[in-house]
Amino acid sequence: MNPVHGRSDDLFPDAAGSAPYPVAAAAHGPAETTVTAEPAFRTVPASVDAPSPGSPPSTAPDPAIHCRDLVRIYTAEGIEVQALQGVDLTVTRGELLAVIGVSGSGKSTLMTVLSGLDTATAGSAVVAGHDLMRMTRAQRVRYQRDVVGFVWQQASRNLLPYLTAAENVAMVLGLAGRSGRRARIYELLDLLGVADCADRRPEQMSGGQQQRAAVAVALANEPELLLADEPTGELDEASTAAVLEAIRRMNEDLGVTTVVVTHDPEVASHVRRTVHIRDGRIATETMRRTEVGPDGRPVRIAEEFTVLDRLGRMQIPQDLTESLDLKHRVRLTRSSDHLGVWPQRQGWEEQQ
Ligand SMILES: Nc1ncnc2c1ncn2[C@@H]1O[C@H](COP(=O)(O)OP(=O)(O)OP(=O)(O)O)[C@@H](O)[C@H]1O
Ligand SMILES: [Mg+2]
Repeated sequence: MNPVHGRSDDLFPDAAGSAPYPVAAAAHGPAETTVTAEPAFRTVPASVDAPSPGSPPSTAPDPAIHCRDLVRIYTAEGIEVQALQGVDLTVTRGELLAVIGVSGSGKSTLMTVLSGLDTATAGSAVVAGHDLMRMTRAQRVRYQRDVVGFVWQQASRNLLPYLTAAENVAMVLGLAGRSGRRARIYELLDLLGVADCADRRPEQMSGGQQQRAAVAVALANEPELLLADEPTGELDEASTAAVLEAIRRMNEDLGVTTVVVTHDPEVASHVRRTVHIRDGRIATETMRRTEVGPDGRPVRIAEEFTVLDRLGRMQIPQDLTESLDLKHRVRLTRSSDHLGVWPQRQGWEEQQ
């Protein structure tokens, strides 16, 4: 087990389906509350090199993922789409991270860039010491084969339909030319709770079993990074919980850095750190931890941070802009230890 990041409270599959936050009175898991101390949304310091919440301290070993100002512009029929508009993201080795955002916000684009399947238009991206912006074609192939494992939302993209689960894993191991294949195949399928599916083809397995077998395939080469793009998007609640529990266990037992994309805030509420992508940028991060409450019972704390980028830009969460009627222009007021953001209103000065 990874001694630093392998936390059994990273995911609470038994609480899946319970309200996320504020205050999730999960029947079997600890209650969760959002820290409400002022300010409700804390910003990271304005220093240029300020680490985002959860970033490793400067003495930490190299992060698994380090992206700065990552931009991806697609051009189709003369129209430009800025799918990523300056993503800054640091993921510590061994971390389990959820990425959440509405459709079209850039989640898959980020995943395909991190997986080496696509190249960003500008910025920097270093994964496990590999500079994704400077790889040759041959290095890229090796990177995809040895450094990352990928799980797609569509189970049909993850497994070859005419091979059994064991053969699907074997094929990856065969490509990598590893020895001790047979034992490793069954060990992996067993770890993912699908050893009984070893001799079944995908059509003979449920969606959840297929996705767990897909995780086994993705992990076969012992990658340093596991990327899963909506791996539970096609599954029902019970299968979702089983797949997420399998991913959590892999992260904990093997220490493999894991990034899971999800549409589902419920899913994201079960990991310790969630980044929220909005319009191609990381808008907010939510950090969760468990503390002992005054009554001695564990309490889940969720703190949401607005991310300030190196140019001083931050996105104010939509629920706040709407409820405070913030639009177009806002006034900033400076205090010794915080910044106030006010709607532009007629006669505002008189109110001060
Ligand atoms: N190959 C492409 N060519 C042109 N535009 C693209 C391409 N791929 C994605 N886009 C556009 O980039 C933006 C981000 O797409 P992306 O697939 O990353 O979103 P997403 O957050 O994964 O959405 P979803 O939740 O629906 O999967 C969208 O506006 C999308 O239309
Ligand atoms: Mg997507």
